[in-house]
Amino acid sequence: MRFLENFPLAAFNTFGIRAKARYFAAPASEDELARLLRSVTARNLPLMVLGGGSNVIFGGDFAGLVIHPDMRGIQCLGETAEHYLIEAAAGEKWHDFVQYTLARNWFGLENLSLIPGTVGASPIQNIGAYGVEVTDRLHSLTAIEIATGCRHEFTHAQCRFGYRDSVFKQELRDRFIISRVRFRLLKTPAPRIDYGDIRQELVARHIDSPTPRQVSDAVIAIRSRKLPSPDVLGNAGSFFKNPVVGRAQLESLKADWPALVSYPQGEGAKLAAGWLIEQAGWKGRRIGPVGSYEKQALVLVNHGGATGGDVVCVAQAIQQAVRERFGVELEMEPQVYGGN
Ligand code: FAD
Ligand code: EPU
Repeated sequence: MRFLENFPLAAFNTFGIRAKARYFAAPASEDELARLLRSVTARNLPLMVLGGGSNVIFGGDFAGLVIHPDMRGIQCLGETAEHYLIEAAAGEKWHDFVQYTLARNWFGLENLSLIPGTVGASPIQNIGAYGVEVTDRLHSLTAIEIATGCRHEFTHAQCRFGYRDSVFKQELRDRFIISRVRFRLLKTPAPRIDYGDIRQELVARHIDSPTPRQVSDAVIAIRSRKLPSPDVLGNAGSFFKNPVVGRAQLESLKADWPALVSYPQGEGAKLAAGWLIEQAGWKGRRIGPVGSYEKQALVLVNHGGATGGDVVCVAQAIQQAVRERFGVELEMEPQVYGGN
C-alpha cells in the first residue's frame, strides 16, 4: 500500500484549512486496511481517520498517518415483506448514496439528503437532519480494529446512538475504522414531514402528500438556502451541538428570555444554539478570517486563509459570550486534529 508523504489536506477538509499530513494512505478494501494497520501499529505512529473532512478542524499539521477509507460499493443483501437490507462501503459519498437509494425506490433516507461526508462517518456522530437520524435506519455495521486489524460486527444496540453521539465518540473513540454500514430501508414510502421547514416548503410547492423524492428535493432546497456550500465558503456545518438542559434550567431561562427557541428532550429541552449565538450578538460577526455565517449563526465560516488557531479563537469567544449571557455551555461538534 502506497504512503504519500507531506500530503496537503486543504482539499480534504471542508473548512479549507491548509495543513499537511506527515503520511497519507487510502486503503480501497478491508484487507488492504487490515494489512496497513498491522504494518503501522508497531511503529507507534499517531493515526487519524479522515472521510470527507466535513466535521474536522485541523489545528495544524498532522504529524502521523492519515487513513482515508476508500472502499466503494452499494448492494442489496436481502429483503423482508417490508424492508430491504442495503449495505454501503465506508468510502461512498453520503449524499450520492442517498440519491442512489431513492432512484431504486429504497426509502427512508430522504430527509438526510445533501449532508456532506462519507457513509463510513455517518454513524460516528449519528448524523441527523429534518427529523431523521441515522439511528432510525441503521441496521448494523462492520469495523476494523485499529490495534489488531481484526474485523468486528456491531449491532444497532452496540453503537449506543444519541444526539450527535455514538459509542465511537465515547468508549471506543479512536479504536475502530468503520468499513461498511448496513441500513434497513422501507419498501413503502413513509415520508416524515413534521419538521416545520419541510412542511412549509411543501406547502409553498403545493404538495399535499409528497413522495420521498419530493421530500428529498424540499430538503435540498431548504439546505441550499440556509447553509453555505463549502465549495464557496469553507465551513463544517453546525459548529456547536444544540445544548441540552434540564427542566429547572429551561424554566429559569424561559422566565428571562420568553422568546428562547427550544425543543422537548426527555425531562428538559434542546436549545437552538443558533438563537443563543444570535442573541449574544455574534451572528455575521468575525475576527480576522473566521466568523459566524450571516444567515445561520451556528455555522462558522472561513472567509479565506483561516488557520486552526483562528477557528479556535472565534469558537472560544462565542462560547464565552453565550456562557456570560445565558449560563449555557456550547460543545463543539467537529473534532480538532493536529497542531500539537
Ligand atoms: P470527517 O469529517 O472526515 O470525520 C468526522 C469524524 O469521524 C472524525 O473524528 C473522523 O476520525 C471520524 N471518521 C470518519 N470516517 C470514519 C470511519 N470510516 N471510521 C471511523 N471513524 C471515522 N452533520 C449532521 O449530522 N447533520 C447535518 O445536517 C449536517 N450538515 C452539514 C452541512 C455542511 C455544509 C457541512 C460542511 C457539514 C454538515 N454536517 C452535518 C457535518 C458532517 O457532514 C457529518 O458529521 C459527516 O458525517 C462527516 O462525514 P465525513 O466523512 O466528512 O467525516
Ligand atoms: N436560529 C436563530 N438564528 C440563527 C440560526 C437559528 O434564531 O442564526 C433559530 C431559529 O429559531 C431556527 C432554530 O434556531 O428555527 C433552528 O435552526 P435550524 O433549523 O437552522 O437548525 P439548527 O438547530 O441550527 C440543526 C442541526 C443541523 C441540521 C438542522 C436541520 C445541530 C447542531 N444542527 O441545526 O445539522 O441540518 O438542525 O435538522 O443539531 C450539523 O450538525 O452540522 C448540521 C448542519
